[in-house]
Amino acid sequence: MAYGRIPREFIDELLIRADVVDVINARVPLKKKGREYTACCPFHNEKTPSFTVSPNKQFYHCFGCGVHGSAISFLMEYEHLEFVEAIESLAESLGITVPREAGGKAPNKEQQQRSKDLFTLLQDASEFYQLQLKGSDKAVNYLKGRDLSGEVSKRFGIGYSPAGWDNLYKPFLKNYPEQQLVDSGLVIKNDDDPNNIKTYDRYRDRIMFPIRNRKGQTIGFGGRVLGDDLPKYINSPETSVFHKGSELYGFYEARMHTKNLDRIVVVEGYMDVIALAQFGVSYAVATLGTATTQDHIKQLFRAVPEVIFCFDGDRAGREAAWRALENALPVMQDGKEIKFLFLPDGEDPDTQVRKVGQEAFEASFDEALSLTGYFSENLHDRFNITSDEGKSRFIQEASKLLHKMPDTLIKDQLVSRLAKQTNIDERTLLKRISQPESNYQNNQQSSYPSEPYFDEHFEPSRSVSRLSNREVRQTPIRYAISLLLSKPDLVQFVENIEQIVLSKLPGSDLLTTLIETLQESPNINAAALLERWRNTEFEAPLILLMKWQPESDDEEVLRCEFEDCLKHIHKRANEIKVESLLHKERTGGLNDQEKQELLFLLQQK
Ligand code: GTP
Ligand code: MN
Repeated sequence: MAYGRIPREFIDELLIRADVVDVINARVPLKKKGREYTACCPFHNEKTPSFTVSPNKQFYHCFGCGVHGSAISFLMEYEHLEFVEAIESLAESLGITVPREAGGKAPNKEQQQRSKDLFTLLQDASEFYQLQLKGSDKAVNYLKGRDLSGEVSKRFGIGYSPAGWDNLYKPFLKNYPEQQLVDSGLVIKNDDDPNNIKTYDRYRDRIMFPIRNRKGQTIGFGGRVLGDDLPKYINSPETSVFHKGSELYGFYEARMHTKNLDRIVVVEGYMDVIALAQFGVSYAVATLGTATTQDHIKQLFRAVPEVIFCFDGDRAGREAAWRALENALPVMQDGKEIKFLFLPDGEDPDTQVRKVGQEAFEASFDEALSLTGYFSENLHDRFNITSDEGKSRFIQEASKLLHKMPDTLIKDQLVSRLAKQTNIDERTLLKRISQPESNYQNNQQSSYPSEPYFDEHFEPSRSVSRLSNREVRQTPIRYAISLLLSKPDLVQFVENIEQIVLSKLPGSDLLTTLIETLQESPNINAAALLERWRNTEFEAPLILLMKWQPESDDEEVLRCEFEDCLKHIHKRANEIKVESLLHKERTGGLNDQEKQELLFLLQQK
């Protein structure tokens, strides 16, 4: 659906006005503990509370399973809402309406009406096809021949499009304009030849599978031939209401069937989803003839902690699984799990579940490969690590992939497993991940944060307590960022921001962006900052540093610590500049201005 963007300032304001403590407390009772609130985590099973909410940062974090975020993220996770829905729900609870930016994409009344009509049209079509099924012995016999029960056919709204060119087009033209029939994807208008324009039904003599969105609205169809003709399946084209990369067949039906899903199986075909449902595995979904996208995986993770990819064991199935893995890496979180189950040759989930039954089929999930297992197995199959060259290519490929992952326990496990597998030191491997393309200069910015990068001697005057159970080295830049997140008005003590920029120290881009943002919007809080950088390269490091908590509340102490960090950063920036000038002096010589600068810097030291 076309909507105008929600202005960023509105999201900032929303997160300043809303209180994450209220939002969570209304759903999960919180207990005050020191400066924070705690509860048993609603996202994983635990007996002692490790879920913490910080009123100061407006941020929650569970150091058991790693979930974290703002009031918006909480609503997304807890109530399975999409980003925009969460904003709308939060705004509604505060009695404010969500503004939309004007511009090309803002929906006017007419556009809204058109989408609405498209949903109505598609729903009408779905009912039309279901009615046609009842009247067609041929189609009913086909479904019977595939042992589909009437109950499950009805649950999935299966229908039939009769043979002929205008069975749908003709009667629908009475209620809908031709253009809308074309826009829906149900009717094709071939106007290549102006003297011979043809308009006709896209789906003819096919079993029809309605595709529904998360609200249960029909947004498209898949149509299967009854025999062996090609193409076997026809899917609706992309339309204004149907986007293959973000829809999953069967997701709506699975959620309708089971209120609290705890896992989802991803399969390849419509018939797989339906057959599994018939045999009691009512939690399967299929992508729509596309690879599994990041968006798919994010949606799945919002609904369940465990996703099992169940594909054919053939080459195509393995390729599909690997694509899914690649797309899952950037969105992996602690507390979420993906697995891979490959079926025996020649079987798909439809045939397999009929052969072995529900119990054995579900039991095979226990033997499915874990993310780390499949990752290492796949690389092992592709590269021969007994040779130096093969090993080096193995590491190169592994680094490239690991580099895409946020800092999680799963990543640590993967690194440790790969290190053992290749007999390479973990630290060496980690170093490679932070510089996957061997050109460190070009990559150091995006690889932040990964390895200790400078100033081994830095110790903040007071240590910070960590909400996180993961150890991340403290460096002046990281500490400065975490102090700013705790106490944004420290930004007033920043001087000479250019030097931080020019230092090109890893993390300096995040620090300077943060400083600039705080200078522009002095009232913003940490949660609103996090929302600004949702889905960007800054998100992961910000979350990591958000979990750090200065031990002191004392303004004076915090100020000293912050100024300490800045001093360290400036000092290090100077050293880097000096090193590069000295290097230039040795290799090509310096001009007058550079000589002066070097002299000045050396004196400062
Ligand atoms: P059945 O033969 O009915 O059991 O189907 P299947 O689910 O086993 O089909 P298959 O494994 O061949 O294909 C899996 C999925 O790929 C289907 O559900 C479709 O989404 C898609 N697909 C298969 N064949 C075609 C095709 O010819 N065209 C398009 N666009 N998609 C196809
Ligand atoms: Mn099949």
